[in-house]
Amino acid sequence: MATDFQKGYKASKLTFESDRITFQNEVDNFKFSPGIMEVMMDWETPIMEKMAELAVSEGDHVLECGFGMGILSDAIQARNPASHTICEFHPDIIPRMRTWAEGKSNIILHEDKWITVDNGRYDAILMDTYADDDLHYRFREFCNRKISKSGGKITWWNWSGGETDEYMKFYWKDGVTFTDVAVDPPTNSYYNLDVYKVPIKTLTPHPTGYGILDSSTISFADSTTKTIAKVHDESIITCLDPSNPSLVNKNPTRSMSMICKGVYVINNGLLAVTGNHIMIVKRDGSWVEKNMNEVIVGDKLYKIDNTEVEITQIDFDSSETKYTVSRLLIDYNYFANDILIKEGGTDG
Ligand SMILES: C[S@@+](CC[C@H](N)C(=O)[O-])C[C@H]1O[C@@H](n2cnc3c(N)ncnc32)[C@H](O)[C@@H]1O
Repeated sequence: MATDFQKGYKASKLTFESDRITFQNEVDNFKFSPGIMEVMMDWETPIMEKMAELAVSEGDHVLECGFGMGILSDAIQARNPASHTICEFHPDIIPRMRTWAEGKSNIILHEDKWITVDNGRYDAILMDTYADDDLHYRFREFCNRKISKSGGKITWWNWSGGETDEYMKFYWKDGVTFTDVAVDPPTNSYYNLDVYKVPIKTLTPHPTGYGILDSSTISFADSTTKTIAKVHDESIITCLDPSNPSLVNKNPTRSMSMICKGVYVINNGLLAVTGNHIMIVKRDGSWVEKNMNEVIVGDKLYKIDNTEVEITQIDFDSSETKYTVSRLLIDYNYFANDILIKEGGTDG
């Protein structure tokens, strides 16, 4: 639901000057900054250029959120993206964006909030909105859905100017790099430091269809079992390395489910696994990790009772049947139907 500040911003008449866009903030509950507020200023040009340089490569499919003065849009265009989708929701800015886009063949305009972009995946997502209620809560999940299957770069306006998540709350603890840009802003309502750190998160999405059939069971430390989808933060039996086996009790954070078609069925139902899930198999005398679609008859699996099970049959179900599959978010390898499989990662 839109806050008063967002509604107030969207309803306000913007003032356009050569070096800035401003508006009169008349929203009562935004008392810390009443009066004239800057939405965008041209001192940010070196920042916008650095964002484009770090996030966009030639031939990328790019999603840009917030047109403003079009400075970032120009910087993205200079890098020759294959497609460049721009989201903008303010009625005073949309006509300017349309004029800017005229004659540019790789531009797709989305004249609404970025959260309503429902098609496509992108190699780069550049976020620079204002008075945006969706950002803190939904941007991370949005990026997980919208980034291209082979991964990509994400960058955003860094309100703190430092290397903290204190304002954005994306909770990307790992994999964010920061690049300094020297700036010289005139006094304004949003950023007054002389260094700005451009954040870049490189996101590698989990392959689709990553998991095991929902009916697979997980063994608990107290000798009980549960189907994988029902496991949440309880002590389960794990084993990091079958070549040096020891059973360790660990708590996953949760399980994640998804619907997919096409699963591999091992030994007539011993375990049903998607092609991308990683299995731990003994091949030529050594334990190795293989995507399920590379596992072959003759490979051996490690069982919870410290024995080995030879794979004698692998069937691929290529029907249109849709299965629910799950994986556990845990940093240890775990047993499904008593068979050791690779841990499911920690979600981005
Ligand atoms: C800081 S300006 C962007 C400046 C731009 N990067 C540039 O180089 O000029 C923020 C822009 O985001 C737009 N905006 C705010 N919330 C938005 C949303 N949810 N979806 C799309 N655009 C939004 C604003 O109307 C404004 O044009």
